[in-house]
Amino acid sequence: MSRPFIVAIDGPAGAGKSTTSRRLAARLGFAMVDTGAIYRTVALAARRAAIAFDDDAALGPLLPALCIRFAPPPGGEGAQRVLLGEEDVSAAIRTPEMSLGASAVSARPVVRAALLDLQRRLATAPGNAGAVLEGRDIGTVVFPDADAKFFLTASPEVRARRRFAELQARGDTTPFEQVLADQLKRDADDSSRAVAPLRPAADARVFDSTALSLDEVVEALAGEVRARVAQG
Ligand code: DC
Repeated sequence: MSRPFIVAIDGPAGAGKSTTSRRLAARLGFAMVDTGAIYRTVALAARRAAIAFDDDAALGPLLPALCIRFAPPPGGEGAQRVLLGEEDVSAAIRTPEMSLGASAVSARPVVRAALLDLQRRLATAPGNAGAVLEGRDIGTVVFPDADAKFFLTASPEVRARRRFAELQARGDTTPFEQVLADQLKRDADDSSRAVAPLRPAADARVFDSTALSLDEVVEALAGEVRARVAQG
């Protein structure tokens, strides 16, 4: 039996992947898998268990014990909820500390290997007509045979501005300079790590959203995905 139609959306922090993926998935009637949220939840669980983000010996046994799931947003609008066991950790994983923590745990091969199967299962769950996965290595590692691959990017300044606005909307008072510095560190770490570094797959379409609105990006991606679905 063939698997659901898979759309891979990779790119650096703040490139608009989450909003784009959410809107695209809603339009197409596909499931959405925010893989960054999964790494963030691992970082949160490690922090709570007082495990250092680079402690492979302790991270290894922690991972199989974690039950990470997504649930529909309250009222059906906005971002999915992220559940760790029965707890809604959607807000707790979106802090600047957990951004850096997720980037740190994601560099550990033991973590990446343990999460591969979970990401593939969530995307191909029974009942999914298709899935949009967003992350850093979807088109290169998680689904190298994805049906459509996109790499979203934008200038560092524009990406940091978007992240800053998001944090402010949540009442987080981290100054812009700090948001930009954290983002530059995360980009450098995510791109230079040995396993599954952030890079476009050879067959990914690259979209630079510096001068495009997210509506324009969603429009372009939806058009391309529909054309591919129609090609069968
Ligand atoms: O997309 P995000 O900002 O929520 O991701 C948080 C971190 O998780 C990011 O800095 C790198 C890591 N990550 C990853 O290594 N691979 C993925 N597929 C998704 C996220």
